[in-house]
Amino acid sequence: MKIVILKNSDEVAAYGADIFVRFISKKPAAVLGLATGSTPVALYKQLISAYEQNRVSFKAVSTFNLDEYLGIAAEHPQSYRYFMNHQLFNHIDIDKQNTQVPQGDAEDPFAACERYESAIKKKGGIDIQLLGIGRNGHIGFNEPSSSLMSRTRVKTLTRATIDDNARFFSADEYQPHLSLTMGIGTILESKKVVLLATGESKADAVKAMVEGPLTASCPASALQMHQDAVVIVDDAAASKLLDVDFYKHIEMENRKLNERFDR
Ligand code: F6R
Repeated sequence: MKIVILKNSDEVAAYGADIFVRFISKKPAAVLGLATGSTPVALYKQLISAYEQNRVSFKAVSTFNLDEYLGIAAEHPQSYRYFMNHQLFNHIDIDKQNTQVPQGDAEDPFAACERYESAIKKKGGIDIQLLGIGRNGHIGFNEPSSSLMSRTRVKTLTRATIDDNARFFSADEYQPHLSLTMGIGTILESKKVVLLATGESKADAVKAMVEGPLTASCPASALQMHQDAVVIVDDAAASKLLDVDFYKHIEMENRKLNERFDR
């Protein structure tokens, strides 16, 4: 796991976006795994401006989102499909036919999950997966106690996640308690993983993910098993890590190596 600690959320977004821009420049038909929530919004803004400045094109890119609420349709303003269209897809040159989000209103959600896994496989797997992290350590909607081998499936949300996400729903609006989510096994198969976390509210989850034991109690700790996972955090989200200076030192050494070997 590579830990990058930066001053603030703007730097986190810029660093993360740069990874994606470079990746797509090298592989224009990259398969991206994408996330919703508050954290990636600033990164998506950076990708949009990179596109506007002709630094990147998404014409040949395909995407798979991590998750979707069960029981709401794509047109619903709180659906993750709606979020992706408005936060990213509508502003770049991606072919929407190449963008996939699990189908929240599928007649048979279980079959929809199986189809989603097959579609990812058919594309040759996800090249680079963007992740946020829940305060309880969830990735996607893989809540604590999720199987570390899990695949895309229907998942019940914890009370903590429902409460955290209530801010997106108005008081009289139906808020789903179930979701369709890529599994931890699905995420671990991505060739590269980029996780962003900002703010003090994520400090405990970041500590458990990076320095805690590998445990289903903190689903994100499964990333300790990934060969190419980059965790990008701001000082506040890193504030409970034991060895901040060491992680910063490694990152400085990595930057020097990258410059020297042009990586
Ligand atoms: C969203 C997702 C979730 C979020 C997590 C953090 O697609 O997969 O795991 O990344 O809940 O959400 P924010 O960024 O809103 O704190």
